[in-house]
Amino acid sequence: MDFSMDNVTVFTHPLIQHKISILRDKRTGTNEFRALIEEIAMLMGFEALRDLPLQDVEVETPIETCMTPMIAGKKMAVVPILRAGLGMVNGILALVPSAKVGHIGLYRDEVTHEPHEYYCKLPSPIEQRTIVVTDPMLATGGSAVAAVDFIKQHGGKNIKFMAIIAAPEGLKRLREAHPDIQIYIGHLDRQLNDNAYICPGLGDAGDRIFGTK
Ligand code: PRP
Ligand code: URA
Repeated sequence: MDFSMDNVTVFTHPLIQHKISILRDKRTGTNEFRALIEEIAMLMGFEALRDLPLQDVEVETPIETCMTPMIAGKKMAVVPILRAGLGMVNGILALVPSAKVGHIGLYRDEVTHEPHEYYCKLPSPIEQRTIVVTDPMLATGGSAVAAVDFIKQHGGKNIKFMAIIAAPEGLKRLREAHPDIQIYIGHLDRQLNDNAYICPGLGDAGDRIFGTK
């Protein structure tokens, strides 16, 4: 049973927990790290997309013609927060290959920890889509809040935010800033340290996915 509080789901599934533990291990190399991020995103996406709209379509089986449900239209967008959110995109696309992909480029200032935007391109029309924002780390919440702000400014309405690891500080900030969105968290960690890194966390997600540093 996953742990839910109104608009927040914190996953307890053993497969997700097991894979997150391997991610945390500093000995886990880039290839395995990248594969795990994608697998966890897919497992989380399976639950996060349970309310995707369906429509009945006509299908001819070898036996007879029937009306049977399929995902309605081209109504989904995955929006990774660059860079690290990119690592989760293929996990979601494995579930919904027809989804469009937008990008929001943000980096955290190393001193102030405040997010700075450097890129934003969203599929249009964004208003009618279910939008899944991906970022493995929800730390202070600054990047997540800014990303959802941008999406709303562009007209996005039905927004789901997915993070593999969150700090309580960031989760609180995101919920307060955007109480209308659905939030999915793989594991809720203890706290932030003085450098605004999540403890115990997994270190710098972007660096570990892309093998930088
Ligand atoms: C990391 C992470 C989030 C952000 C979380 O990105 O991927 O986007 O920090 O921190 P916050 O909740 O305090 O905003 P980073 O800025 O390091 O950029 P990168 O993905 O390009 O490495
Ligand atoms: N960004 C990361 O990649 N890791 C953290 O712990 C915090 C922000």
